[in-house]
Amino acid sequence: MRPPMRPPMRPPILAANWKMHHGPTAARAFIAELLARHTPRADRTIVLFPPALSLHAAAEARADRTDIRLGVQNIHWESKGAFTGETSAGMARDAGAELALVGHSERRHVFGETDEETSRKCTAAHAAGLVPMLCVGERLGEREAGETEAVVLRQLRAGLTSLEAGARRSVMIAYEPVWAIGTGKTATPDDAAAVHAVIRQELQVLAPEGGSEVPILYGGSVNPGNAAALLAAPEVGGLLVGGASLEVAGWLAIAST
Ligand code: PGA
Repeated sequence: MRPPMRPPMRPPILAANWKMHHGPTAARAFIAELLARHTPRADRTIVLFPPALSLHAAAEARADRTDIRLGVQNIHWESKGAFTGETSAGMARDAGAELALVGHSERRHVFGETDEETSRKCTAAHAAGLVPMLCVGERLGEREAGETEAVVLRQLRAGLTSLEAGARRSVMIAYEPVWAIGTGKTATPDDAAAVHAVIRQELQVLAPEGGSEVPILYGGSVNPGNAAALLAAPEVGGLLVGGASLEVAGWLAIAST
């Protein structure tokens, strides 16, 4: 049963971002163990984001267990061409992805991805039939300078405004404060709820039809001990989990929250 204080329109989304972990062999083994230990549940959606190279193996290992959905961690905005080392949205879809992470903080801050690029990637994902999961979040200095809201709104608008109005409701948002990613520092449920409320308000402006139903996930040092409280916070419609998603037991403890 859903907790009564969360007003969601759909079951929570529990998403695992494996980052650069689990090649094809490890992905197969992870999913085999996951399927053995987890029976399909209608009250939640599970998404795995393996490395692009492991997507096909993950899709094969998942077989007919389509309750386990797959996504790609990054795409290029072009559909094909001379872009050595890149993956297009169409290729990711062909390999089994249904979703695409866009603008993860490591893409933005390690690889220098710009707002304009996230915008093009959202458009490319949508055009290829993938659901973009746009990641937004402030750095520590921005939070301390009182700029959280401005940063998150800028990233949100940049990501979504190039999508036509009707497509903006077919996205997911992940709020991931950069200072909480991989650091062990988690936003409190109140911190998360405050920013999620700002995102929700803007989604209703950007997508007057359906913006109130776009899932907003929280991510950043989520673990089995804090997952339930974060998930119960207002407007938190799911969790995006990095480090704590790499072992099946820990992941299942979160995914069963
Ligand atoms: P973390 O990563 O759970 O290891 O903090 C979350 C993410 O980067 O999506």
